[in-house]
Amino acid sequence: METTENGKMPSSHFNGPALTQLCIRSANPVGERQRPGALSANTDRTGSLDSSASPQPARRPSCNAVSELDSWMEAPPFTGASHEGKRRMPGLRGLRDQRVIVTGAAGAIGRAIVERLAEEGGIVGVLDLDGEGAEAVVGALRETGGRAHALAADLTRPEQVEQAVERFVAKVGSVDGLVNNAGWDVAHDFLDTDEAVWQKLVDINLMGPLRITKAVLTHMAAQRCGRVVSIASDAGRVGSSGEAVYAACKGGIIAFSKSVARELARQGVTFNAVCPGPTDTPLLEGLDPTGRLQQALVRAIPMRRLGEPTDLPGIVAFLLSDDAAFITGQSISVSGGLTMHG
Ligand SMILES: NC(=O)c1ccc[n+]([C@@H]2O[C@H](COP(=O)([O-])OP(=O)(O)OC[C@H]3O[C@@H](n4cnc5c(N)ncnc54)[C@H](O)[C@@H]3O)[C@@H](O)[C@H]2O)c1
Repeated sequence: METTENGKMPSSHFNGPALTQLCIRSANPVGERQRPGALSANTDRTGSLDSSASPQPARRPSCNAVSELDSWMEAPPFTGASHEGKRRMPGLRGLRDQRVIVTGAAGAIGRAIVERLAEEGGIVGVLDLDGEGAEAVVGALRETGGRAHALAADLTRPEQVEQAVERFVAKVGSVDGLVNNAGWDVAHDFLDTDEAVWQKLVDINLMGPLRITKAVLTHMAAQRCGRVVSIASDAGRVGSSGEAVYAACKGGIIAFSKSVARELARQGVTFNAVCPGPTDTPLLEGLDPTGRLQQALVRAIPMRRLGEPTDLPGIVAFLLSDDAAFITGQSISVSGGLTMHG
């Protein structure tokens, strides 16, 4: 995603009604209007299952966004003042009740993303190979009022991927968003690697996202609305020594996002990639447990620090929201300025 000339994102206050109309047009090209506030045939606002109704593909409220648009039209103009009686500046649109699966959600960046989405009122599928870790994340989210469901699954096993998506759909009615975040890496010069390690890297970092993207697209295309955000890497944009095959997978994910973004644009599904730079997580620590690599990276990063997991959820939430309804096929770095593309 490119920013504006002065590097700022346009304010959601200024663009609110216009972007909401774009969402109505792009997500609902036949002009069908859905009852405002409807979640789905078989769920309530807690995301829990009503077993008396059969699951139906459902359009989430903000895919259509009629209620939000109407409330904008009726509201008095925002004056900029925040004292009592004045209307509060709204946040990102369309995240409330959004049903999103986040993969690798027991890991560092994944957990930060699901915490933010739950805070925004989303219903989150916490998918991870580490089932206990996923349960622990869900338990913590529920203690603070978040709505989440643990989905233990290995992305290298196609049948487990499909079952996890179907379990989530059975619980909450459909799936509106996917964050492809799970990943794995090991540092070796390319000449020291063999087919076995290439296979593992490709299976987790490239094939994994392809499998689950295909599984959720069936639902998103049926409801003519969806958001897919893939956590790629700056390694996939500019290369990285010691990570040749991992970088190839991440570059592949960026190219895949751009291609399916074109194929599914008229079905109302957007695809974007977020590219973290070096981020202080177990994955980075595993590349050099001595910490020397991390110190060298800090010296190279203009902002003079590694990324933190909490640096990622903002852009992910934005790309999942209706404020990003007209943004697709883009990739954006979150790297403290380490990589800059003109
Ligand atoms: N940390 C960094 O410096 C950095 C930089 C660029 C990109 N990234 C990307 O960010 C994403 C998150 O990484 P992180 O740093 O939080 O790592 P992490 O190791 O903390 O989390 C990764 C999670 O993915 C899960 N996972 C791995 N293989 C899986 C599989 N087959 N099926 C299901 N889940 C699986 C792990 O169990 C783990 O919970 C990854 O895609 C990674 O490539 C990280």
